[in-house]
Amino acid sequence: MSYIVKNLLGFSVREYELLDSTNEEAKRIISEKNINPDKIIISADNQTNGRGRHGREWVSEKGNLFVSYIFNISKEFSPELYSYFCALAITRILQAHSLMPKLKWPNDILLNGGKICGILLEKHGDFLVCGIGININSCPDFLLDKKTTSLKDHNINLTKDEILFSLSKNLEEILSNYTKNGFSGLEKEINDIFLKGSAEIDLVGAKTKGEIICIDENGKMNFSTEQGIIRISSGEVFLL
Ligand code: BTN
Repeated sequence: MSYIVKNLLGFSVREYELLDSTNEEAKRIISEKNINPDKIIISADNQTNGRGRHGREWVSEKGNLFVSYIFNISKEFSPELYSYFCALAITRILQAHSLMPKLKWPNDILLNGGKICGILLEKHGDFLVCGIGININSCPDFLLDKKTTSLKDHNINLTKDEILFSLSKNLEEILSNYTKNGFSGLEKEINDIFLKGSAEIDLVGAKTKGEIICIDENGKMNFSTEQGIIRISSGEVFLL
């Protein structure tokens, strides 16, 4: 698979025309010897096997953004937090265009209730792959029972290069803020976009009702149930 290499801020971008999945390519790169994969970005125009959470398909139509960032997390912070770092990096781009995105736990970005972006985190050895898909020009008509939308639907005309630049710049800023100030530097911003309220959570087959409260400093979602507050790092949420 041939690719073009570009430098972008502190990242090295590998641009492919076609891949099975940018996350899979990221994992292959991590497994290679003689290479430091930290801060490599994999981008593809198209994916033949784009994947979402829970092994679902991520419909990958040309014209949309499919990227994976690789971060070395061996000495750093809770991997779950990266999901919110990526979400913030994306929501800042949308807010700069006067849109009001919301974050549905764990990592769906919604505009007017429609999913515009999905994030898939996968740990591979000491590295974390943060796969991001953004609907720029098109979106599948439906994604299971979810509404979907695209930037085009909101009259935002950004190129893939412009989005990748802003995304990378925002991620750099967010990571540096976190390194300096810890979670308190980002807590308000994350919880402001976070959708709270009554919900049912599917925790590996067991459904529990309660209230979504916040994201805490370890990246756990705090969920208030009749048995007390539980702190969750993965699961499926149904807002009531
Ligand atoms: C989800 O909402 O379920 C997560 C979707 C993540 C899709 C992106 S597209 C780039 C990267 N490569 C993949 O195969 N998946 C992620």
